[in-house]
Amino acid sequence: MRAACTISFGGRAGIPKLGRCRLAVASGSYIPRRRYVFAPAKIEEGEQVAIVFITGSADGLGRAAAETLLTEGHRVLLHVRSNDRIPAMGDIASRAAGIAIGDLSSAREVKSIADQVNAIGRMDAIIHNAGVYTERTRGSTIEGHPNTLAVNSLAPYMLTALIERPARLVYLSSSLHRGGEGSLSDLNWNKRPWDWARAYSESKLHVVALALALSRRWPHVLSHAVDPGWARTKMGGVDAPVDIDTGQRTQSWLAVSGESAAKVSGRYWRHLKQEAPANEATHPEFQARLIAEFARLTGVALP
Ligand SMILES: NC(=O)c1ccc[n+]([C@@H]2O[C@H](COP(=O)([O-])OP(=O)(O)OC[C@H]3O[C@@H](n4cnc5c(N)ncnc54)[C@H](OP(=O)(O)O)[C@@H]3O)[C@@H](O)[C@H]2O)c1
Repeated sequence: MRAACTISFGGRAGIPKLGRCRLAVASGSYIPRRRYVFAPAKIEEGEQVAIVFITGSADGLGRAAAETLLTEGHRVLLHVRSNDRIPAMGDIASRAAGIAIGDLSSAREVKSIADQVNAIGRMDAIIHNAGVYTERTRGSTIEGHPNTLAVNSLAPYMLTALIERPARLVYLSSSLHRGGEGSLSDLNWNKRPWDWARAYSESKLHVVALALALSRRWPHVLSHAVDPGWARTKMGGVDAPVDIDTGQRTQSWLAVSGESAAKVSGRYWRHLKQEAPANEATHPEFQARLIAEFARLTGVALP
């Protein structure tokens, strides 16, 4: 992976200099070849133009968060699973700082995504948004993991470990994480009969625990978990009570806001308000054991 032309990062650490840049990245990621004119017209007072990487931004809450941040004048690095999904992004593809490409269920492709992001430069924020829900069978990734564990838990862990540390991290969780306690004895679902709902709950507890652990481990990074509510997306379905804009608002706010309320760390949020997460996710011992298991399963150590 090689950036043919890199964005100039200057001024405050990680904040790109305003100006023009032509950018192309060889093989693996797609960067529209066009001139970028950064126009932070709607940036709120106290905010600076940020560059934000959002996983799973072809659809749903990820795409909606990308649209919000682009409209506010921020820069967004999008992500899709494959080239075939680029057309689904519509016009945000041409407005983005680039598009990282890779399937999150493959460890090799997750590593490639990290390389693609690092080739562009340090992100100000990363929203770990991509996820799967109703996986009716355990499935088995190339590495032998259930798809739910690989996409929802191991991929965000690996990307966190492999991408240059941003200033802010946001992990998409769910209120269903409260049904996911007690997963450590069989993270990989080798001993238990498959239960897709339980596997999803466990994966969403994992990312809360990871977000909270990182807030202590990396004190200079603001790290959060967000429950978007039951939102009307491909995953949530048409009967979901929460509109997509409400569903994306908390994570896009946490990614860039200059408000003091957004500059705390280690919190669990729903609709711009902090809530108490499941007890287990807050326990340092559980967090440490989880991270050790992730490191063992992926072969990737968390710095
Ligand atoms: N919607 C809800 O009610 C709700 C509630 C609580 C939590 N959440 C969480 O919010 C996040 C976003 O959900 P959503 O409702 O926006 O879901 P969605 O509409 O199904 O979108 C999920 C996104 O993740 C991507 N993705 C899934 N598997 C992938 C893989 N293997 N590799 C690369 N990308 C992959 C999808 O790509 P494709 O488009 O190519 O499939 C899509 O862009 C998820 O983490 C979810 O668990 C959602």
